[in-house]
Amino acid sequence: MLKKIEETIAYIRHEITTNPEIGIVLGTGLGGLANEIIPESSLPYKDIPNFPESTVKGHEGRLIFGKLGDKNVVAMQGRFHYYEGYSMQELTFPIRVLKKLGIKLLILSNAAGGVNPGFEIGDLMVIKDHINLMGNNPLLGPNDDSLGPRFPDMSETYDKKIIRHFTKIARSHSIHFQTGVYAAVSGPTFETPAEYKYIRVLGADAVGMSTVPEAIVARHMMLPVFAVSIISDLGVEGKIVEISHEEVIDAAARVEPKMTLILKEMISKLEL
Ligand code: HPA
Repeated sequence: MLKKIEETIAYIRHEITTNPEIGIVLGTGLGGLANEIIPESSLPYKDIPNFPESTVKGHEGRLIFGKLGDKNVVAMQGRFHYYEGYSMQELTFPIRVLKKLGIKLLILSNAAGGVNPGFEIGDLMVIKDHINLMGNNPLLGPNDDSLGPRFPDMSETYDKKIIRHFTKIARSHSIHFQTGVYAAVSGPTFETPAEYKYIRVLGADAVGMSTVPEAIVARHMMLPVFAVSIISDLGVEGKIVEISHEEVIDAAARVEPKMTLILKEMISKLEL
Protein backbone atom coordinates (compact mmCIF):
# COMPACT_ATOMS: atom_id res chain seq x y z
CA MET A 1 0.00 0.00 0.00
CA LEU A 2 2.73 2.47 1.01
CA LYS A 3 4.64 1.77 -2.19
CA LYS A 4 1.54 2.43 -4.27
CA ILE A 5 0.86 5.66 -2.38
CA GLU A 6 4.42 6.82 -2.98
CA GLU A 7 4.16 6.02 -6.68
CA THR A 8 0.96 8.07 -6.93
CA ILE A 9 2.45 10.95 -4.94
CA ALA A 10 5.50 11.05 -7.21
CA TYR A 11 3.23 11.47 -10.24
CA ILE A 12 1.08 14.15 -8.60
CA ARG A 13 4.04 16.14 -7.25
CA HIS A 14 5.44 16.29 -10.74
CA GLU A 15 2.17 17.81 -12.00
CA ILE A 16 1.45 20.38 -9.29
CA THR A 17 3.17 23.53 -8.10
CA THR A 18 1.69 24.05 -4.62
CA ASN A 19 1.21 21.97 -1.50
CA PRO A 20 -2.47 21.50 -0.60
CA GLU A 21 -3.43 22.19 3.03
CA ILE A 22 -7.07 21.10 2.86
CA GLY A 23 -8.73 18.23 0.98
CA ILE A 24 -12.36 18.47 -0.03
CA VAL A 25 -14.50 15.61 -1.33
CA LEU A 26 -17.21 17.20 -3.42
CA GLY A 27 -20.20 14.94 -2.91
CA THR A 28 -23.73 15.46 -4.13
CA GLY A 29 -24.56 19.01 -3.20
CA LEU A 30 -21.13 20.48 -3.04
CA GLY A 31 -20.12 20.43 -6.68
CA GLY A 32 -20.51 24.21 -6.81
CA LEU A 33 -17.55 24.72 -4.51
CA ALA A 34 -15.35 23.57 -7.40
CA ASN A 35 -16.28 26.78 -9.25
CA GLU A 36 -14.98 28.84 -6.34
CA ILE A 37 -11.51 27.35 -6.54
CA ILE A 38 -8.97 29.32 -8.56
CA PRO A 39 -7.48 26.29 -10.30
CA GLU A 40 -3.77 25.70 -10.68
CA SER A 41 -3.78 22.14 -11.96
CA SER A 42 -6.44 19.61 -12.72
CA LEU A 43 -5.62 15.92 -12.92
CA PRO A 44 -8.14 13.47 -14.39
CA TYR A 45 -8.35 10.35 -12.21
CA LYS A 46 -7.68 8.19 -15.24
CA ASP A 47 -4.19 9.72 -15.59
CA ILE A 48 -3.26 9.19 -11.93
CA PRO A 49 -1.41 5.93 -11.28
CA ASN A 50 -3.20 3.54 -8.90
CA PHE A 51 -6.37 5.65 -8.70
CA PRO A 52 -9.55 3.59 -9.05
CA GLU A 53 -11.04 3.58 -12.53
CA SER A 54 -14.35 5.39 -12.76
CA THR A 55 -17.31 3.12 -13.47
CA VAL A 56 -19.57 5.98 -14.52
CA LYS A 57 -19.20 7.02 -18.15
CA GLY A 58 -19.04 10.77 -18.70
CA HIS A 59 -18.18 11.36 -15.04
CA GLU A 60 -14.50 10.80 -15.17
CA GLY A 61 -13.59 12.64 -12.03
CA ARG A 62 -10.53 14.70 -11.34
CA LEU A 63 -8.38 16.22 -8.66
CA ILE A 64 -8.51 20.00 -8.73
CA PHE A 65 -5.57 21.78 -7.12
CA GLY A 66 -5.91 25.49 -6.51
CA LYS A 67 -6.67 28.35 -4.18
CA LEU A 68 -9.80 28.92 -2.14
CA GLY A 69 -9.32 32.30 -0.48
CA ASP A 70 -5.72 32.24 0.64
CA LYS A 71 -5.67 28.46 1.19
CA ASN A 72 -4.17 25.86 -1.06
CA VAL A 73 -6.78 23.17 -1.50
CA VAL A 74 -7.27 19.96 -3.40
CA ALA A 75 -10.79 18.93 -4.33
CA MET A 76 -11.92 15.51 -5.43
CA GLN A 77 -14.52 16.17 -8.08
CA GLY A 78 -16.28 12.84 -8.11
CA ARG A 79 -16.01 10.23 -5.38
CA PHE A 80 -15.96 6.46 -5.41
CA HIS A 81 -18.83 4.59 -3.78
CA TYR A 82 -18.91 1.11 -2.30
CA TYR A 83 -22.07 0.26 -4.27
CA GLU A 84 -20.15 0.78 -7.53
CA GLY A 85 -18.20 -2.37 -6.74
CA TYR A 86 -14.90 -0.95 -5.48
CA SER A 87 -13.33 -2.55 -2.48
CA MET A 88 -13.25 -0.37 0.63
CA GLN A 89 -9.46 -0.16 0.27
CA GLU A 90 -9.75 0.99 -3.36
CA LEU A 91 -12.34 3.64 -2.75
CA THR A 92 -10.43 5.18 0.15
CA PHE A 93 -7.02 5.09 -1.57
CA PRO A 94 -7.34 8.75 -2.74
CA ILE A 95 -7.81 9.85 0.89
CA ARG A 96 -4.52 8.19 1.84
CA VAL A 97 -2.84 9.97 -1.05
CA LEU A 98 -4.23 13.37 -0.03
CA LYS A 99 -3.02 12.87 3.53
CA LYS A 100 0.45 11.95 2.32
CA LEU A 101 0.39 15.04 0.08
CA GLY A 102 0.20 17.00 3.32
CA ILE A 103 -3.42 18.01 3.86
CA LYS A 104 -4.24 18.87 7.46
CA LEU A 105 -8.02 18.69 7.21
CA LEU A 106 -10.44 16.58 5.18
CA ILE A 107 -13.87 18.01 4.35
CA LEU A 108 -16.52 15.52 3.22
CA SER A 109 -19.97 16.22 1.88
CA ASN A 110 -22.92 14.09 0.85
CA ALA A 111 -26.66 13.94 0.30
CA ALA A 112 -28.55 11.88 2.86
CA GLY A 113 -32.03 10.79 3.83
CA GLY A 114 -33.28 12.32 7.07
CA VAL A 115 -34.65 9.88 9.65
CA ASN A 116 -34.99 12.41 12.47
CA PRO A 117 -38.66 13.51 12.55
CA GLY A 118 -37.55 17.09 13.24
CA PHE A 119 -35.70 17.31 9.93
CA GLU A 120 -36.94 18.81 6.69
CA ILE A 121 -35.84 18.38 3.10
CA GLY A 122 -33.16 20.94 2.36
CA ASP A 123 -31.72 20.97 5.88
CA LEU A 124 -27.96 20.98 6.31
CA MET A 125 -26.69 18.50 8.88
CA VAL A 126 -23.23 18.70 10.37
CA ILE A 127 -22.11 15.14 11.11
CA LYS A 128 -21.10 14.80 14.75
CA ASP A 129 -20.75 11.02 14.74
CA HIS A 130 -21.50 8.01 12.58
CA ILE A 131 -22.73 4.43 12.60
CA ASN A 132 -21.11 2.11 10.11
CA LEU A 133 -23.82 -0.20 8.74
CA MET A 134 -21.99 -0.96 5.50
CA GLY A 135 -21.06 -4.44 6.62
CA ASN A 136 -17.43 -3.75 5.78
CA ASN A 137 -14.52 -1.61 6.94
CA PRO A 138 -11.61 -0.21 4.92
CA LEU A 139 -9.16 -1.27 7.64
CA LEU A 140 -9.97 -5.00 7.49
CA GLY A 141 -6.94 -7.10 6.63
CA PRO A 142 -3.28 -6.76 7.55
CA ASN A 143 -2.46 -3.37 9.10
CA ASP A 144 0.40 -1.24 7.84
CA ASP A 145 1.69 0.29 11.06
CA SER A 146 3.45 3.03 9.13
CA LEU A 147 0.03 4.33 8.03
CA GLY A 148 -1.81 4.06 11.34
CA PRO A 149 -2.63 1.85 14.32
CA ARG A 150 -4.26 -1.59 14.18
CA PHE A 151 -7.12 -0.44 16.42
CA PRO A 152 -7.79 3.23 15.74
CA ASP A 153 -9.63 5.33 18.29
CA MET A 154 -12.98 6.66 17.02
CA SER A 155 -14.09 8.60 20.11
CA GLU A 156 -13.94 11.89 18.24
CA THR A 157 -14.08 11.14 14.54
CA TYR A 158 -15.47 14.53 13.54
CA ASP A 159 -13.33 17.42 14.71
CA LYS A 160 -15.14 19.46 17.39
CA LYS A 161 -13.05 22.57 16.78
CA ILE A 162 -14.01 22.66 13.11
CA ILE A 163 -17.68 22.07 14.00
CA ARG A 164 -17.53 25.14 16.29
CA HIS A 165 -15.93 27.15 13.50
CA PHE A 166 -18.67 26.09 11.05
CA THR A 167 -21.34 26.95 13.64
CA LYS A 168 -20.00 30.47 14.11
CA ILE A 169 -19.97 31.19 10.39
CA ALA A 170 -23.42 29.68 9.73
CA ARG A 171 -24.85 31.76 12.60
CA SER A 172 -23.25 34.94 11.32
CA HIS A 173 -25.22 34.42 8.09
CA SER A 174 -28.38 33.33 9.97
CA ILE A 175 -28.18 29.98 8.21
CA HIS A 176 -30.00 27.28 10.12
CA PHE A 177 -28.47 23.80 10.30
CA GLN A 178 -28.90 20.53 12.16
CA THR A 179 -26.26 18.45 13.88
CA GLY A 180 -26.58 14.69 13.93
CA VAL A 181 -25.45 11.12 13.54
CA TYR A 182 -24.96 9.74 10.02
CA ALA A 183 -25.58 6.05 9.38
CA ALA A 184 -23.79 4.62 6.36
CA VAL A 185 -25.32 1.77 4.37
CA SER A 186 -23.96 0.08 1.27
CA GLY A 187 -26.90 0.90 -0.98
CA PRO A 188 -27.60 0.99 -3.88
CA THR A 189 -31.22 0.43 -2.85
CA PHE A 190 -32.82 3.24 -0.90
CA GLU A 191 -34.30 2.02 2.38
CA THR A 192 -37.61 0.30 2.94
CA PRO A 193 -39.87 2.02 5.50
CA ALA A 194 -38.92 -0.69 8.01
CA GLU A 195 -35.22 -0.03 7.40
CA TYR A 196 -35.60 3.74 7.89
CA LYS A 197 -37.36 3.01 11.18
CA TYR A 198 -34.59 0.59 12.21
CA ILE A 199 -31.91 3.16 11.39
CA ARG A 200 -33.72 5.79 13.48
CA VAL A 201 -34.08 3.36 16.41
CA LEU A 202 -30.33 2.72 16.26
CA GLY A 203 -29.69 6.38 16.98
CA ALA A 204 -29.08 7.95 13.59
CA ASP A 205 -30.46 11.21 12.26
CA ALA A 206 -29.64 10.62 8.59
CA VAL A 207 -28.66 7.78 6.29
CA GLY A 208 -26.50 7.68 3.19
CA MET A 209 -24.14 5.58 1.11
CA SER A 210 -20.78 7.31 1.47
CA THR A 211 -18.48 9.31 3.77
CA VAL A 212 -17.90 6.74 6.51
CA PRO A 213 -15.16 4.75 4.70
CA GLU A 214 -13.30 7.99 3.97
CA ALA A 215 -13.71 9.21 7.55
CA ILE A 216 -12.40 5.90 8.93
CA VAL A 217 -9.29 5.96 6.74
CA ALA A 218 -8.67 9.61 7.59
CA ARG A 219 -8.83 8.86 11.33
CA HIS A 220 -6.57 5.85 10.85
CA MET A 221 -3.99 8.36 9.59
CA MET A 222 -4.80 10.93 12.33
CA LEU A 223 -6.23 13.34 9.78
CA PRO A 224 -8.94 15.65 11.19
CA VAL A 225 -12.31 15.31 9.46
CA PHE A 226 -15.29 17.62 8.99
CA ALA A 227 -18.40 16.31 7.23
CA VAL A 228 -21.76 17.72 6.30
CA SER A 229 -24.92 16.27 4.75
CA ILE A 230 -27.67 17.83 2.75
CA ILE A 231 -30.98 16.23 3.68
CA SER A 232 -32.44 15.39 0.28
CA ASP A 233 -35.39 13.22 1.32
CA LEU A 234 -37.09 11.94 4.46
CA GLY A 235 -37.24 8.42 5.82
CA VAL A 236 -39.71 9.42 8.50
CA GLU A 237 -42.96 7.52 9.07
CA GLY A 238 -45.83 9.31 7.35
CA LYS A 239 -43.47 11.32 5.16
CA ILE A 240 -41.91 8.53 3.13
CA VAL A 241 -42.57 8.95 -0.57
CA GLU A 242 -41.10 7.30 -3.63
CA ILE A 243 -37.65 8.79 -4.36
CA SER A 244 -35.18 8.71 -7.20
CA HIS A 245 -31.55 9.63 -7.63
CA GLU A 246 -32.66 12.68 -9.66
CA GLU A 247 -34.75 13.97 -6.77
CA VAL A 248 -31.81 13.54 -4.40
CA ILE A 249 -29.62 15.54 -6.79
CA ASP A 250 -32.26 18.26 -7.30
CA ALA A 251 -32.89 18.68 -3.58
CA ALA A 252 -29.16 18.88 -2.90
CA ALA A 253 -28.64 21.40 -5.70
CA ARG A 254 -31.22 23.76 -4.18
CA VAL A 255 -29.24 23.96 -0.92
CA GLU A 256 -25.84 24.05 -2.53
CA PRO A 257 -25.43 27.87 -2.57
CA LYS A 258 -25.88 27.99 1.24
CA MET A 259 -23.40 25.19 1.75
CA THR A 260 -20.87 26.74 -0.64
CA LEU A 261 -21.13 30.11 1.10
CA ILE A 262 -20.42 28.70 4.56
CA LEU A 263 -17.65 26.33 3.51
CA LYS A 264 -15.86 28.94 1.43
CA GLU A 265 -15.77 31.35 4.34
CA MET A 266 -14.96 28.59 6.80
CA ILE A 267 -11.96 27.48 4.79
CA SER A 268 -10.65 30.98 4.23
CA LYS A 269 -10.82 31.72 7.98
CA LEU A 270 -9.33 28.41 9.15
CA GLU A 271 -6.10 28.54 11.06
CA LEU A 272 -4.28 25.33 10.38
N1 HPA B 1 -31.00 6.65 1.84
C1 HPA B 1 -29.75 6.32 1.54
N2 HPA B 1 -28.93 7.12 0.89
C2 HPA B 1 -29.40 8.31 0.53
C3 HPA B 1 -30.69 8.71 0.81
C4 HPA B 1 -31.55 7.82 1.50
O1 HPA B 1 -32.73 8.11 1.78
N3 HPA B 1 -30.84 9.96 0.32
C5 HPA B 1 -29.67 10.30 -0.24
N4 HPA B 1 -28.78 9.31 -0.12
